[in-house]
Amino acid sequence: DEAMLRKIKNDLVDIARTAGQMMIAADPSVVESDTKKNSSDRVTETDKAVEKMVQDRLTSEYPHFGFLGEETFKLGDKLGDMPTFVCDPIDGTLNFIHGFPNTAVSLALTIEKKPFVGVVYNSFRGDLFTAIKWQGAFFTTSTGITRRLPMSPVPKPMTSLNDCLVALEWGSQREGSNWELRTSMSQQLMTSKAAGGAMVHSIRSNGSAALDFCYVAAGMIDVFWEGGCWIWDVCAGWIILEEAGGMVASANPGDWDPTLEGRLYLAVRGAKRAEQEGVVKELWEMMGDRKFVY
Ligand code: IPD
Repeated sequence: DEAMLRKIKNDLVDIARTAGQMMIAADPSVVESDTKKNSSDRVTETDKAVEKMVQDRLTSEYPHFGFLGEETFKLGDKLGDMPTFVCDPIDGTLNFIHGFPNTAVSLALTIEKKPFVGVVYNSFRGDLFTAIKWQGAFFTTSTGITRRLPMSPVPKPMTSLNDCLVALEWGSQREGSNWELRTSMSQQLMTSKAAGGAMVHSIRSNGSAALDFCYVAAGMIDVFWEGGCWIWDVCAGWIILEEAGGMVASANPGDWDPTLEGRLYLAVRGAKRAEQEGVVKELWEMMGDRKFVY
């Protein structure tokens, strides 16, 4: 019920603020070496320590709920129908290691595989984004000012990619067909070679998919395109975007109905549905026959 969801949101905010303090106090250069595939694919001790704190607190307060976290995930683990907390302890780990302050803890609650509560907190900037299903999305600044999303005045009209500032992330692959697709998309977006001459204002790669969703929700960025995100990257941002009137589609042409396990995401800020769909179609046209594979 609504009161229960509000309590969960407040608990997640409290836990996110503790996580944020851990991140600020941490030494991000302590990198765990083992499992990762190249020098851009990193995990730090802080990722693991934050996830442990989050899991301990949530499982003691909500022992009957599921938990899915980036650092404890094992291949084959699935999101179930039961209420489940989804945790990315540090989204934007590479930013964290470099001291680039666009990094966040991302916490969500799903019910029947749909996000119901989302909390994304960037402790380095003090930016807090939250949403509860049917209760709106909010942005709280470091000075404690809270605004409903999207922020008013309502962002400029959006009739085409020509009006858009677009976020596109690079993930950790540095070769292969997905990497080539990202490269081709960024080139086309910047040169109006496709989609009826559509060309964006510019591209941003902020390094955190969770924050990209929130920036789109706030109307700071108009569109976010990436294939290959995991549930924990997008789950909290997804409900924040939806509650701000934005939409999520699959990053692959033709699929309006992405799932949390699909790993393909395209986010468009709140505007009329026809405008949102028009922008998605322009992006899909740029992809042509190419699909993001994972
Ligand atoms: C990553 C970041 C990055 C995106 C990757 C994500 P992580 O999350 O969101 O921007 O390109 O796809 O996996 O590994 O820092 O939690």
